[in-house]
Amino acid sequence: VLPAACDFTVFGGTGDLALRKLLPALYHRDLEGQLPADHRVLGVSTSDLDDAGWRDAVRAALTTYVAAEQLLTPVVDRFLARLRHLRLDAEDPEDWDRLHALLKDRAHPEDAVRVFYLAVAPRLFGSICQRLDEIGVVDERARVVLEKPIGHDLASAREVNDAVGRVFGEAQIFRIDHYLGKESVQNLLVTRFANTFLEPLWNSQWVDHVQITVSETVGVGGRGAYYDHAGALRDMVQNHLLQLLCLVAMEPPTYVGRETVRDEKVKVLRALRPMTPADVDRDTVRGRYDVGLVDGAPVPSYAEDLGHGGSRTETFVALKTEVQNWRWAGVPFYLRTGKRMDRRVSEIVVVFKEPPHSMFPGAEGATAPNRLHILVQPDEGMRLHLTAKEPGPGGYRLRPVSLDLSYAAAFDARLPDAYERLLMDVIKGNPTLFMRRDEVEAAWTWTEPILRRWASSPARPRRYPAGTTGPTAAAMLLERDGRTWQEPDQ
Ligand code: BG6
Repeated sequence: VLPAACDFTVFGGTGDLALRKLLPALYHRDLEGQLPADHRVLGVSTSDLDDAGWRDAVRAALTTYVAAEQLLTPVVDRFLARLRHLRLDAEDPEDWDRLHALLKDRAHPEDAVRVFYLAVAPRLFGSICQRLDEIGVVDERARVVLEKPIGHDLASAREVNDAVGRVFGEAQIFRIDHYLGKESVQNLLVTRFANTFLEPLWNSQWVDHVQITVSETVGVGGRGAYYDHAGALRDMVQNHLLQLLCLVAMEPPTYVGRETVRDEKVKVLRALRPMTPADVDRDTVRGRYDVGLVDGAPVPSYAEDLGHGGSRTETFVALKTEVQNWRWAGVPFYLRTGKRMDRRVSEIVVVFKEPPHSMFPGAEGATAPNRLHILVQPDEGMRLHLTAKEPGPGGYRLRPVSLDLSYAAAFDARLPDAYERLLMDVIKGNPTLFMRRDEVEAAWTWTEPILRRWASSPARPRRYPAGTTGPTAAAMLLERDGRTWQEPDQ
């Protein structure tokens, strides 16, 4: 339910995430008339800005990140008028008093739903929550939003969850994984469970294997300090890729409810084959980008981006896992993600088994296994690869063809950014698309043996030239199983 009034406080209000994603997302919802009429956005940061200074920064961000035709002057002005900025030194009690005063500075403060979005380093989550509690602004309708990563490993994730949980109840904690807000990711549930034809095939009897690829062309840019501490496994696999895997592999919940989908996802995470050190050596590949060409332009190496060559952090991961349950036993799930790859694309490919018998032995061409490509970005859609007869009187000639569904063509609508959906869910208090504590911890439980093994191994990440599909060892991971990565345009 949309509250009549909301105070949406962003810690890290001048940061990249706030300016690039959160404020533009809120603007878009305002444009659609979906924000509560009495909605304020409070930016909290260490920058010495007054309201006008922050509004200028947000105006510049909207100009950069919102399409020109969506920037309507009256709406921009209305939106900017909602903004307030507070410079806050976390150690200074007077600054916290000022936040308290700001939140109480409305006719009926108790009527407003308070959202606290922590777009700051996770080590600050606990202390910020504690302070919010101390200044008396956390009531039972307040919500806190935590950006990933939640912790650095299982123990630190538990610490964060404990610290935040001392102030907020689990139902008030929204752990964001923005992949869950992507239209095509939500559509995965609808495709699987609002249609009948896929479900009978969606199991080890008919599926040979599943591939999940999230490749990016960007490097680590100005985020080196964070990224070098994290690496691709923590930054992408522990959250985004495992969430995609969950949605592909989970059982149908009875209905889409606050807990039902999350109950099913956590079962998948707990069914992932635990990795022994030998499994890690055999079934994971780490890479690190070197100089190369991306979109025809030379780009620096990771070490150059970072400013030193001493790091052992991976910018690419490929791995093989398995969901050990009745539906999926024996079906490999291959995951890969990397920075500075040849293209920006995220997709899930379900590769079906070969037909059990070939009826066309003398035919030119061959049957190829059916494949369903679920295109997450940049061009949302779906592509089903089939084998067809080439037209002509000369007997059977078999050719691969594809059935294509493009969202853009099927729906004449702007696809909202993931944060638009998720921020509205926070404001309305719907946690379905957010990660529950047990999910985050199950994901860390599975990830941790990989981190531990990598940390103790003398081997370094393999280098790959920027602008490629990653180290050749990633291709070998599949080739040794008689398979290949399906590139998007194949
Ligand atoms: C973030 C990661 O969670 O997701 C980034 O921290 C990554 O490193 C980003 O670039 C990718 O998101 P998207 O929506 O561009 O695929």
